[in-house]
Amino acid sequence: MALLRIDSSLRGERSLTRQLTDRFTSAWHAQRPDMKMIERDLAVAPPPLVTPEWISAAFTPETDRNDTARALMALSDEYLAEVERASIIVMGVPMYNYGMPAALKCWFDHVIRIGRTFSFDLGRGDFPLEPILAGKILVILSAHGEFGFAPGGVRATMNHLTGHVQTCSRYLGVDTVHSIAIEYQEFGDDRHLASVGAALVEVDALAAALAAAMRPD
Ligand SMILES: Cc1cc2nc3c(=O)[nH]c(=O)nc-3n(C[C@H](O)[C@H](O)[C@H](O)COP(=O)(O)O)c2cc1C
Repeated sequence: MALLRIDSSLRGERSLTRQLTDRFTSAWHAQRPDMKMIERDLAVAPPPLVTPEWISAAFTPETDRNDTARALMALSDEYLAEVERASIIVMGVPMYNYGMPAALKCWFDHVIRIGRTFSFDLGRGDFPLEPILAGKILVILSAHGEFGFAPGGVRATMNHLTGHVQTCSRYLGVDTVHSIAIEYQEFGDDRHLASVGAALVEVDALAAALAAAMRPD
């Protein structure tokens, strides 16, 4: 059992999503110091785009791969080992152009792999893909410059971040998703300060509740 923390903000020290992932992991560690924490910073070290050669290697059975194909899969294998070890994944996901950052989308392209995280069988009819892994929890910690992206909000239909991350994560074995967001970053007004305060309270409560629920006893 491990907690996998993934950050993807390009704003370094000023990042609100990093503030949330820091807060979540600190609260978690206070309750579960026994649990291993794995950290991936996709802004500091972004994955390369997948290529035709990469796809070809991914679709070649492991036993048939040559040295070049094995080398092409090395980073993906590393990412995948981290996902497989994780029972909880905590993702800092800034909203960029109404979706997730390109580096995070690229990470998904590297880790959602046929035969490793999903199986494909046309015998299943119109829904041939099935996840292989299961039982993982995902916490999406997001930040938006604008506001109103929650269900029912004034920009709810422009939120292509939460649904996309959730849909992709199913193929990593995620079956429970929690989402907390800071809004109004670009306004920098009282609404933003209130949003930061509320998100931090929510993060503390969620980390405490999940750490207690996942205690092995
Ligand atoms: C490239 C880029 C694109 C952005 N696109 C959006 C957007 O589509 N909608 C929005 O509400 N905010 C947008 N923002 C603002 C960020 O979501 C906001 O700054 C947020 O705080 C980023 O998270 P961070 O503080 O962890 O970096 C964008 C920021 C950048 C740098």
